Amino acid sequence: MEIIEAIRNRRSIRQYQDKPVPRELLEKLVDAARFAPTARNVQPWEFVVITEPETLKKIAALADNGRFMALAKAGIAVFCSDTKYYLEDGCAATQNILLAATGLGIGSCWIAGDKKPYCGQVSELLNVPPAFKLVSLIALGYPMSADNLRPAEKRSAKEIIHWEKFT
Ligand SMILES: Cc1cc2nc3c(=O)[nH]c(=O)nc-3n(C[C@H](O)[C@H](O)[C@H](O)COP(=O)(O)O)c2cc1C
Repeated sequence: MEIIEAIRNRRSIRQYQDKPVPRELLEKLVDAARFAPTARNVQPWEFVVITEPETLKKIAALADNGRFMALAKAGIAVFCSDTKYYLEDGCAATQNILLAATGLGIGSCWIAGDKKPYCGQVSELLNVPPAFKLVSLIALGYPMSADNLRPAEKRSAKEIIHWEKFT
């Protein structure tokens, strides 16, 4: 899939087929993440790939807006060490994963991590040392049905683009 096509086709998928995501594709997603830009190239990230249904359910129970993680076929938790730009770096990696998933035909949804009260509990559940901050949780699985995919409305390019100066 061409890059602009993947960017335009990506949307948050919260319902999944009962079909596992192969391990080699999960590895590809993390591989795509590591090519994201990072401030001063510090690459502060670590990725916990989750496939055990019990663990996915426990994360779903913690994440108030991520209950659908219980039905996901896999998840990736993005952590960063506490660097100055950890959040930007972790978000860039997260977006790479979402776009790579789209390119591979895998549905994904970003679930908030940073600033959420459940960060500590997710870290504990996944045996992540306290020095690392949870940036995001990503639910993954093959999309349930194309019919369910009503795209989120996006502001038009015309409305948001400002040439040379804002006003
Ligand atoms: C930082 C961030 C946190 C998000 N957290 C959640 C979340 O906790 N639960 C959820 O269902 N979606 C979450 N989303 C997904 C957004 O709801 C979604 O991207 C938005 O509605 C636009 O839809 P689209 O992704 O299909 O374009 C999050 C997205 C971002 C960027």
